[in-house]
Amino acid sequence: MERGIIVAFLQVKGGSGKSTLTQNLAVSFVHSNLKVKIIACDIRQRTCSKWVSRRNEYHSDKPKIFSSIQVDDLKNSVIEDSKNYDVVIIDVQGSDSKSLRTALLISDIVYIPFTPSQNDVEVIEELYGLLEDTQFQNNNRKTFYILNNCSVHYLDQSISDAELFFKDYTHILVPSQIRVYNRKVYKVASSEGLGVIEMNDLKSKIEMLNLKKEVESYV
Ligand SMILES: Nc1ncnc2c1ncn2[C@@H]1O[C@H](COP(=O)(O)OP(=O)(O)O)[C@@H](O)[C@H]1O
Ligand SMILES: [Mg+2]
Repeated sequence: MERGIIVAFLQVKGGSGKSTLTQNLAVSFVHSNLKVKIIACDIRQRTCSKWVSRRNEYHSDKPKIFSSIQVDDLKNSVIEDSKNYDVVIIDVQGSDSKSLRTALLISDIVYIPFTPSQNDVEVIEELYGLLEDTQFQNNNRKTFYILNNCSVHYLDQSISDAELFFKDYTHILVPSQIRVYNRKVYKVASSEGLGVIEMNDLKSKIEMLNLKKEVESYV
């Protein structure tokens, strides 16, 4: 490709892991010697830009990740950045329907994170029309749902319940091969300005390196 890959994490519901996955995918790519930019449509909480500031302040030895906050004209800034960066990752707040639509129209790969619970997965109803509508205009877009915050208890049925629920949506949404489990290290890494692959936790490291591989396999 002449330009960088554009990946978006989006959800209408807060707390599903958009910012966490954005940060960790960015770190996984930056360790492959790629130039990575995060664009956050997150003017209120500024989660990713605060995380980048902590990274720059306390871990200037670590590979640098660039970031900006975008509210207006998301389209042009993403297109412009994709000329200068290998990977552009957009963290889209669901409350902003304009950014949501724009991200769906310009991204190569979209991940919609869900916590595996009935209340959370049902939110797909709110996005369904928009996903279908924009898929025609951005034909090559690959759209995944990704289960985040999965329970590590093997008796827990919520993962298989969620996967069953999404079977009705496979024409518009395919399952990511990566399940992200609820692990304290995701919170710790985030608070330190790091990604989990920079911490000492093998399981989360495998999750995030596999996420990177999945993205690479679709471009
Ligand atoms: N897999 C995970 N394991 C443990 N904590 C997580 C995980 N994913 C997200 N979190 C935590 O849940 C909270 C919400 O995640 P965040 O990524 O900020 O959601 P969003 O950006 O979608 O609102 C944060 O405190 C984050 O550290
Ligand atoms: Mg966020």
